[in-house]
Amino acid sequence: MLTDDMKRDLITEIANSETRQSACIEALQTVQKHSGWISDETIRDIAAFLDMNPAELESVATFYNHIYRKPVGKHIILICDSITCWILGYERLLGHIKSSLGIGPGETTADGLFTMVSIQCLGACDEAPAIMIDETLYTKIDPERFDEIVKSYT
Ligand code: FES
Repeated sequence: MLTDDMKRDLITEIANSETRQSACIEALQTVQKHSGWISDETIRDIAAFLDMNPAELESVATFYNHIYRKPVGKHIILICDSITCWILGYERLLGHIKSSLGIGPGETTADGLFTMVSIQCLGACDEAPAIMIDETLYTKIDPERFDEIVKSYT
């Protein structure tokens, strides 16, 4: 069920769009900011709000990899899984994250604090390897620096 705050924010998003349907990605993102992820029920509620077919909205949500269709951790770690980062330390970094946090891509720590998600290029190739935690980009990451950064989120 969409809360009043969600509806208020959706109305703001829709107001900036040509049609309700053209705001569907922004609508999913807006609701996700409130709820953390998008359930099947939420897909139906947003679709109704946008006068869309739920199956159509579902396909958008599935295609767009920043829409989470299952519960995620409090913080999202995006790890760049692309060529420059591969060359400059991706495997070492990924191995470190797996051993230090106990998660691989698509997984959430047992305490619910972090979910790791693979992404194709964070646009920081000249300072690879790169990760992003929530909205913050971190570059030239090595295991030691990763540990320092993660500490600031705990
Ligand atoms: Fe990793 Fe571009 S390849 S930031």
